[in-house]
Amino acid sequence: MKGGVGKSTTTMMLADTLSLHHEKRVLIVDCDPQANCSQMVLSYEGLKEAKASHKTLASWIESLIGRSIYGEKMQRYQAGQTICYDVSELTNFKPGWFNQNPSEGRLSIWPSIPDSRFAELMFDAEHVQNGDLEHPRRVLAQEISRGLKEALTDEEIAIFDCPPGFSTLAQAALLNADFILSPLNVDFVSLWSLKTFWNQGLSDTLKISDRVPRYAMFTMVRNSGGREERMRLRQELSAFANGQRIRAEVSFSVQGLRMATRIAPDSQRSFNEKYGSLRGTVRALGDEVAELISSQKESEN
Ligand SMILES: Nc1ncnc2c1ncn2[C@@H]1O[C@H](COP(=O)(O)OP(=O)(O)O)[C@@H](O)[C@H]1O
Ligand SMILES: [Mg+2]
Repeated sequence: MKGGVGKSTTTMMLADTLSLHHEKRVLIVDCDPQANCSQMVLSYEGLKEAKASHKTLASWIESLIGRSIYGEKMQRYQAGQTICYDVSELTNFKPGWFNQNPSEGRLSIWPSIPDSRFAELMFDAEHVQNGDLEHPRRVLAQEISRGLKEALTDEEIAIFDCPPGFSTLAQAALLNADFILSPLNVDFVSLWSLKTFWNQGLSDTLKISDRVPRYAMFTMVRNSGGREERMRLRQELSAFANGQRIRAEVSFSVQGLRMATRIAPDSQRSFNEKYGSLRGTVRALGDEVAELISSQKESEN
């Protein structure tokens, strides 16, 4: 629910390491009209191209309604027609003298642009019936579920990057989730927000069962100042999250800061160069999440 806690950077890190080191096929679904993940993956230039060719989540939502936010008539798109597939340019993916074993994984994105927010509002207006405010999120969740089933292979992992707040798109994403990861910072307002999100958001509002695992993870951890306070906060989180905490913790670092904007479509190099001192943590995070996902799959079967 909180902005600036590291949701988008965590999404990017997981998508990179799961596709590269675990050879997974990963789709980022950017549910945030701020488009942070979309920019990190495609860059501003790439995102403008995506908009021009209607390869965005906004276009797909508009096409569900049949008109754009500018009032133009829209044809109906399949979800897959509006997804940007296989867009990672990390060199580790490409064959070459330095890289004999390119990854079998891939990274794709269903990008957002600022228009997404207004497409979403139009969708709400279209689907709210007799004052039933739950209806739009239910319909959107079903549409997303159906769209992704057509657009993805069975093995593909979709990561929904949610906006701050509790938009219809975020709620629809959460209703489709098999696993919910909530980044937080080492501060009490972050923890407060997480508690409210889990209790009032996931349990009371969306009625998401406890069988869908919820995990908290610390990001942007700094080891300066307020030691006692930090210990108290960690204890409070442990008591609340009941062990549902990712062990990997992402430190506050220059690589984390640098990730926020991608300069040009060809500005990414190798995983190790991109993540620098964070590379070990990012891999550990991917290992942990991959393990949790596969043990959950086993328990379902
Ligand atoms: N580990 C980190 N170290 C330093 N800065 C970070 C780190 N992770 C994220 N940031 C910066 O913090 C800001 C918010 O991160 P972001 O992932 O966009 O949060 P959210 O998606 O929750 O709003 C961005 O400017 C990002 O560059
Ligand atoms: Mg974000």
